[in-house]
Amino acid sequence: MPTQTALPLVIVSHELPPDWLAPLHGRCRLVIGPSTAEFSGLAPRLRPYLPEAAGLFSLLTVQVDESLLDAAPNLRIVSNMAVGVDNVDLAACRRRGIPVGHTPGVLTDSTADLTLALLLSLARHLPQAAADARAGKWTTWLPEGWLGLELNDATLGIVGMGQIGQAVAHRARAFGMRLLYTGPARKPEVEIELAAQHVPLPQLLQQSDVVSLHAPLTPETRNLINMNALEHMKSSAILINMARGPLVDSAALFVALQNGTIAAAGLDVTDPEPLTPTHPLYTLPNCLIVPHIGSATHRARRRMAELACKNLLAGLAGQPLPHQAN
Ligand code: DGY
Repeated sequence: MPTQTALPLVIVSHELPPDWLAPLHGRCRLVIGPSTAEFSGLAPRLRPYLPEAAGLFSLLTVQVDESLLDAAPNLRIVSNMAVGVDNVDLAACRRRGIPVGHTPGVLTDSTADLTLALLLSLARHLPQAAADARAGKWTTWLPEGWLGLELNDATLGIVGMGQIGQAVAHRARAFGMRLLYTGPARKPEVEIELAAQHVPLPQLLQQSDVVSLHAPLTPETRNLINMNALEHMKSSAILINMARGPLVDSAALFVALQNGTIAAAGLDVTDPEPLTPTHPLYTLPNCLIVPHIGSATHRARRRMAELACKNLLAGLAGQPLPHQAN
């Protein structure tokens, strides 16, 4: 049994429920950061530990960039408790021979569930209808009140047919939706199983009643949904962003929602993130914003932590990671 000081030092960027980190106890010395409510990046008080750190367990709010890596010459593993790794400079890690772990799969269902929740909420005007009921505007049964979109036979355009996109597609099929998708690679097995059609983005935007974003943030997808893209969409269309905020140009979206270029938007992610309460998007009744809760189920978050611990321990041991992003 190695003595405590011989154990590798691991920085955990934020406080997490202790049982989520249980697999690390006795295998490394942990320096644990503040609660997320206190600080969102890497807290200054953790920086003095970087020179000795062999491992970094990070949340998606921590920028793992050149400056952090330069300060951590002994780092052997970055384990990001997220499937997305746009907060990590993957190339810089690769140049230094540092593997980057991430957590795909375990949050697929929770994220797909929330996609449908936003979609249904907007399709049937739930936020407005609930607010109106509470405000005394439910005076009688209104034949023309709160009319929405029926999902059966409506077209869903999925941008990014990865694991989450496919899980959304399965759910949407159960509602009778027709499926279009776009992305760099065709998925013949998905096309057969879900009767999904691969089309170029402009066609998807033109033909979809709902457009749902599930692509990673890369230089190619940044600002993918700009004013030009929004103008390609139906004026009755709903946009859902479950991916990363910067896929959508927030200023263009505000204009498009305000002037009726599109009907509504549901955002689990925003740019910037978090949105300050005074952000103009909050003033729009047709914009439903939730605070990046796609993976916020007890099961998904616990499993993300579990996988992040496994990646971390594999990296410290110099073994292949269960899920490596670079
Ligand atoms: C991820 O893991 O990348 C998600 O955005 C977290 O919900």
